[in-house]
Parts: sequence; structure tokens; C-alpha cells
Amino acid sequence: RQEKFQRIYELYNAAQKLYTHILLNTTAGEQALRYLLKERELDEETIKKYGLGFVPSNNVLLSYAREHDVDEPTMKAAELFLERDGELVRDRFNNRVVWPIKNERGQVVGFSGRSLDPDNPAKYMNSPESPFFNKGKLLYNLDLAKGPIRAGQPAMIFEGFMDVISAAMAGAEGAVATMGTALTEDHVRSLAKLTERIILVYDGDAAGQKAAKRSIPLIKTVAPKVEIGVIALADNRDPDEVRRELGLPALKQALEQSTQTPTEYLFNAAKLGKNLQNQAQYLDFLKEVWPILADASPVEQDYFLQKLAEEYGSSMEALRSEFEDYQRRHP
Ligand code: CTP
Ligand code: MN
Ligand code: MN
Ligand code: MN
Ligand code: MN
Repeated sequence: RQEKFQRIYELYNAAQKLYTHILLNTTAGEQALRYLLKERELDEETIKKYGLGFVPSNNVLLSYAREHDVDEPTMKAAELFLERDGELVRDRFNNRVVWPIKNERGQVVGFSGRSLDPDNPAKYMNSPESPFFNKGKLLYNLDLAKGPIRAGQPAMIFEGFMDVISAAMAGAEGAVATMGTALTEDHVRSLAKLTERIILVYDGDAAGQKAAKRSIPLIKTVAPKVEIGVIALADNRDPDEVRRELGLPALKQALEQSTQTPTEYLFNAAKLGKNLQNQAQYLDFLKEVWPILADASPVEQDYFLQKLAEEYGSSMEALRSEFEDYQRRHP
């Protein structure tokens, strides 16, 4: 069993090396390399650091595995090939740029592939779930982020690989990502083993806000000692887009200077899309604010009640009375 696992890890490793070689050194990889250098604004050093690759459509890994007498059960268990009627027929990630996904120990356990064709409805494709590849447990880049996090950098959770790579370029080395999946208890537990400070940096779109609203209570429940921070990015941008559209210093600034407490973040998120000069919308906003404040510390409650009084002209007495009323109804 041990040996069987070893052979599978060796195949993953060989696949990563082969795909990187094709990307960097062959004509089959030219278009993909141009995409990564020009459109995604990466450099060769970064491509090598993260082991990115390209999978051409000539089944190069299938040929490699057969030439090197890799046994059929190993090839099937690795999930790097598609099968038809039990026969291995082609490389799974054909015609995609690939990011190797590594476990905490730094062993490759699968890939995620991005299509270069903007019309492809399946922009990203991941290795299927297997004993090696479990999206609910794996955090992208945890192998590299672990050291810096232990040494005091905050753990920062992003949505995608490119966001993690952009963050690391901006000096945030504690960056990890969930891969197209929601944050799980296992994810939180593996980070809480390393640090007491976790910062959420989701995309600045509606999906990112939804993810933050869900992740905050999850972290509070699973790791009550962890101090949570949230970074909200403007104009629907994700961190990688901030780097490419506004520049690396703008991303660095956002990551270093704009962390909000969960209460601040949720309070500001409740304002979005509302005209608070309109009486009805202001009252709707207050209804969203009470449960947020109910979860906050007394000092924060005071701070935000005062802020409401100053900004919108309600009296402190009226605000306090409504908030206390909410608390009585939701003990
Ligand atoms: N993702 C994934 N599988 C999917 C969809 C997304 O693994 N089916 C992951 C990718 O890591 C992606 C991240 O989830 O980077 C966030 O998804 P999304 O924001 O939609 O990706 P984009 O930022 O649009 O991707 P890109 O920057 O490459 O265009
Ligand atoms: Mn998207
Ligand atoms: Mn997104
Ligand atoms: Mn994104
Ligand atoms: Mn993106």
C-alpha cells in the first residue's frame, strides 16, 4: 500500500515536471506561455516557483507513462487520464494551462486546469475527488504559506490560485486559497493550528461578499480564539485583477492597509445598494444592522450606534431602544 501510494506520487511529480517543461521549452507551449506572461503578467521565475504547466493535446503524459512502464492501477488511481470502457484514452487536462495542487507536505496530488478558449463554458477544471485530492481539505499553497504563517504573517484566504500568486508577489506570503469550493471546518482547523489571525480576501463581487458572510460565522464557531479580518476590494475586482489593472503597489496597499473587523465589514456591506437618505431603505438597513451588532462586543456596539446617530440623525436613545428591542426578541 505504501509502495502503491509512492508510485502515484511519483507519477504526479513526473506529470508536473513534464507539463512545466512543455510550457517553458517547447513550441507546443508557446501560446500558453505567451498567455501567462502577457495577459496574466507573470514572469518565468513565478511560473517555475508554482510549477505551472501546459498540457498539449497529444497525450504526452499517457505516452510517457507507457514508455516508463507505469502500471495501469497507478495510472487509473492518479486520475490524470480519461477512460473509455475501462481503457485509458487521453490526458485529462488536454489543452489547458495547469496549476499543480500540492498537499501540506508539498507533494503534488492533482491539478487544476484553465482553458485558454474564452468560449469554453468550463473555464476551470479540477482533478476529481480521490483519496489524494479532497477539495474540502486542501488549501492551495499551504505548503509554501505554512512557514511564513508560523513566523507571524497572517493567514490570508483567497478564492483562487491567481489571487494567491498575486498576493505572494505583493509580499503576502501567508496566502492560501480554497479551490472553487466554500471554506470548510477542516480548512479552518488546518489554519488555526498555525495562527490566531485569519484574513478573508474574497473577490469584490456579490459572490465574494456572500462567501465572506458565510465564512465569518464558520471561523468564529470552529476557532473562537482566532482574530478575523476582512479585506473588501472595490469595483468587483479580484486580487489578481487589482494587481494587473491598478498595479502591484495598489494590491500591496490593499492587503496591508485595509483590513476591517468582521463587524465593520458586515456593517458596510449592509449599506451597499441602499439609498440611506430614503426612509424605507434606512429602516431596512437598520434591520440588517441589529443582528450584526448583536454579535459584536459592547465597545463595538457603542461605536456603531454612535456612528449611526452621527451619520443619519437618529437619536442615540431611539437607536438603543430599537437595538435592545431586537435583542429581547432574539435572546
Ligand atoms: N475554481 C475552480 N473550479 C471552478 C471554478 C473556480 O477551482 N470550477 C477556482 C479557481 O481557482 C478560481 C477560483 O475558484 O481562480 C475563483 O473563481 P473565479 O473568481 O470565477 O475565477 P476567475 O477569477 O474568474 O478566474 P481567472 O482569473 O482565471 O479568469
Ligand atoms: Mn469569474
Ligand atoms: Mn469569484
Ligand atoms: Mn476571481
Ligand atoms: Mn481572477
